[in-house]
Amino acid sequence: MNGDKERIAAELGAGRGRSLRYTDIDDETLVRQHSPLMSPLVWDLAHVGNYEEQWVLRQAGGVAPLRPEIDVMYDAFAHPRATRPELPLLPPDEARRYIAGVRDRALDVLDRTDLSDPHPLRSGGYVFGLVLQHEQQHAETMLATLQLSGRPGLVRDGALPTGRARGHDQVLVPAGPSGMGTSTDPWAYDNERPAHRVDLPAFWIDRFPVTNEAYEEFVEAGGYGDPRWWTPEGWRWRCARRVAAPLFWTRDGARWWRLRFGRHEPVPPREPVQHVSWYEADAYARWAGRRLPTEAEWEKACAWDHRAERALRYPWGDDDPGPRHANLGHRASRPASAGSFPAGASPCGAEQMIGDVWEWTGSWFTPYPGFAGFPYREYSEVFFGRAHRVLRGGSWATHPSAIRATFRNWDLPVRRQIFAGFRCARDVAAGET
Ligand code: AVJ
Ligand code: FE
Repeated sequence: MNGDKERIAAELGAGRGRSLRYTDIDDETLVRQHSPLMSPLVWDLAHVGNYEEQWVLRQAGGVAPLRPEIDVMYDAFAHPRATRPELPLLPPDEARRYIAGVRDRALDVLDRTDLSDPHPLRSGGYVFGLVLQHEQQHAETMLATLQLSGRPGLVRDGALPTGRARGHDQVLVPAGPSGMGTSTDPWAYDNERPAHRVDLPAFWIDRFPVTNEAYEEFVEAGGYGDPRWWTPEGWRWRCARRVAAPLFWTRDGARWWRLRFGRHEPVPPREPVQHVSWYEADAYARWAGRRLPTEAEWEKACAWDHRAERALRYPWGDDDPGPRHANLGHRASRPASAGSFPAGASPCGAEQMIGDVWEWTGSWFTPYPGFAGFPYREYSEVFFGRAHRVLRGGSWATHPSAIRATFRNWDLPVRRQIFAGFRCARDVAAGET
């Protein structure tokens, strides 16, 4: 195998290692539905294999279907998450055998695929990038399920850098044109394409994601009880669900505690807040006299190098993410404190744009000018419109292969089980700067 193929094989192996580790638990925990928001873990496990079978084996490799009768069960559109436990899902051992069989054949397909073949699925190994990112996305989904389950014993206590004292609270992003999206990244999804120019006025953006300590001030100031800070839908949601703090937070006397993978612990003040909905992020920002950044602002602050006049792949440049740059890939089961990654700063000085927590933006998930759905409408296209908000930057649970400055994630504004937080922005006032 040449270098690219070795890299692909290694990344496929890394994703599979995660899927198997997260499902190396008793069958009862795997088949149970821990929350109507999530699939049983055993569904995710077979689904990643079925996706690989459909795209790598059948579509790109011309291999005859192994188990066509199970396709419909693992089709996310045929069966919403809430209904998946009623399906006659493959039991855990059978699911493991099935996905291992698919993987053996996928590596054969990789071996005999010419990556310079112009076929859109084979060119540059696109279909392998699609499948390996998909498995990593589901690994993160499985972690969200495990967190919701409250099952103890799952905290990974890897070492993370500790935050340093913070400098300026916000950084200025100068006015002017910048690039957004990509037309050249070989594994970029359809929704990241094509590259295009935007021209934004100057704005301020937080150097770090909003911390627990800062968010607690909003809670203590009665922010959840004051409709002034909320959109009408957000206020209705917070009243109907009686939301009064981030998901997994509980109060004990004067102190806030959180439940993290089955462990109760005091809320760490300097970590970015996570498990807040878009409505909560938006309300906090309004209370703080700020707003959420638009998606275009977020991407410019993350990766636009105004001196070189080009977009970087990551805030720190084009080098692959390393442990000095960002908290990715489940090194520990939590975000790192604000200020932990000075080496990961972007050209404008924003830090922790990649990793730690997904960041809600103020933008709806909509297509870029010139968007073309590929390789199937259900990847992105059916989600476009005023239902889903865009999240950027990846979390501590996101694998490095599945994140870059242009990557767009999306979810409903009510969702809190994902590893999401936010940072704030504001307009530049007249005479300022
Ligand atoms: C990009 C995270 C919104 O999980 O719904 C997984 C990714 N697409 N399987 C999701 C995805 C198909 C998607 N997100
Ligand atoms: Fe999927």
